Amino acid sequence: MRIIVIGATGTIGKEVVRALEGRHEVVKVGHRGGDHQVDITDKGSIERLFREVGAFDALVSAAGQARFGPLESLSDEDFRVCLDDKLMGQVDLVRAGLGQVRDGGSFTLTSGLLAKYPVRGSSAITMINAALEAFTRAAALEMPRGARINVVSPTWVSETLVAMGRDGSGGLPAATVARAYVESVEGTRNGETLDVRSFA
Ligand SMILES: NC(=O)c1ccc[n+]([C@@H]2O[C@H](COP(=O)([O-])OP(=O)(O)OC[C@H]3O[C@@H](n4cnc5c(N)ncnc54)[C@H](OP(=O)(O)O)[C@@H]3O)[C@@H](O)[C@H]2O)c1
Repeated sequence: MRIIVIGATGTIGKEVVRALEGRHEVVKVGHRGGDHQVDITDKGSIERLFREVGAFDALVSAAGQARFGPLESLSDEDFRVCLDDKLMGQVDLVRAGLGQVRDGGSFTLTSGLLAKYPVRGSSAITMINAALEAFTRAAALEMPRGARINVVSPTWVSETLVAMGRDGSGGLPAATVARAYVESVEGTRNGETLDVRSFA
């Protein structure tokens, strides 16, 4: 398969690339790094990327910024970043990619466990993660030519916790999280939220 990985230079994306490379042709896309660059908050940039890379069998998005903070402190800009980057950035990857996904191909997006298990400070992130999962359920009903769409819901990634100076054992290694993306790409699921904890 020809697989585009958006966020290929990131903590999760790097392991997704590692898990897929070898069996598939992987096109690595970053914001500043990677073989190709895209800014998912800019539709022109997304359209340019698809013109550059051409047809594909699967698109994986392991990108998307969101802001965490107390509800009373989250600014208009914090909410806008969540909506424009992690939510609409990923939705626009699907909308723009529909014309170029090959028959029977797939899209895999990224949400997060905060969608289902909110904590104090997660109101904006919980909102957009849940929206991504709702979008995926509905969009699956309209995928053209046998295409599929799923969303992976990661818990804390161990490497991310360590980078934050916290105990990595509270999360799952990125290599384990990557298994959920592989299942979405290589399996037959459609319209599902894949909870990474079931791949540990
Ligand atoms: N890590 C966790 O613990 C965790 C937990 C739950 C959910 N998630 C979700 O998983 C996803 C990936 O997280 P991560 O920790 O792997 O992220 P990360 O290490 O920060 O990597 C982000 C990746 O996205 C790319 N990127 C950044 N801004 C972009 C933009 N505007 N357009 C296109 N690409 C952009 C980066 O490219 P460059 O390197 O070129 O800048 C990089 O490849 C995010 O949606 C995050 O919310 C992560």
